Amino acid sequence: MIVNVITLFPDMFSGVFSESILSRAIQGGHMNARVVHLREYGLGSHRVVDDTPYGGGGGMILKPEPIAAALEDLPERGHVILTTPRGKLFRQADALRLSSHDVITLICGHYEGVDERVSELFVHEELSIGDYVLTGGELPAMVIIDAVARLIPGVLGHDTTISGDSHYHGLLEHPHYTRPREFRGLAVPEVLLSGNHEQIRAWRRDMAFRKTRETRPDLIEKALPEGEWEGKE
Ligand SMILES: C[S@@+](CC[C@H](N)C(=O)[O-])C[C@H]1O[C@@H](n2cnc3c(N)ncnc32)[C@H](O)[C@@H]1O
Repeated sequence: MIVNVITLFPDMFSGVFSESILSRAIQGGHMNARVVHLREYGLGSHRVVDDTPYGGGGGMILKPEPIAAALEDLPERGHVILTTPRGKLFRQADALRLSSHDVITLICGHYEGVDERVSELFVHEELSIGDYVLTGGELPAMVIIDAVARLIPGVLGHDTTISGDSHYHGLLEHPHYTRPREFRGLAVPEVLLSGNHEQIRAWRRDMAFRKTRETRPDLIEKALPEGEWEGKE
């Protein structure tokens, strides 16, 4: 997969692309990241990328011409996403859907946002990572790229299962334990030591429902019924 990012702050991406699983995804040839500095497409000798809003009001708006030029200069742009708090909420199902694209391009907004005509002309979808406002689209782009990259076949090791993750079935994940068997008076639940895979699976489902009911009751109604989990575990 090719991931293009258009940003005023390209250096912010060097850390995420050079560490851990994203770095391995790139080194392993599963993902190719191209970070485009929007400033290079700014207008005039001052490389201007923003201007005041028509109709008044505070803040600056990212101008359409530099973003259009940056997009049109890409060898391929594929599915174009604008990060914006007014976009559709980005969920695990979106990460899965996006992981099947060959090329995605993320536009990072800044200041008060992006001239609306960029969306009208170039953007396939607007995504928000949550109901809060950040200073720029760089962190949202990193969040989206990270969630998508780990779902590209071959990026995670064979011993890592994504189907047990929180949100995969619409539920939160069951608790995990590792050695030692007892830590500060708290023992690992007996069932996990039993070796009985059917009982372990049942316990995990039960705990996933319990955890979801406690912390995200809104998810329960939309979660896949247990009967439909088969083959997806
Ligand atoms: C300060 S925000 C602009 C907020 C805009 N005035 C509004 O109220 O919707 C600047 C940029 O940060 C990014 N951004 C901020 N919060 C975001 C969120 N929750 N999800 C996705 N992008 C976000 C967007 O790219 C946005 O253009």
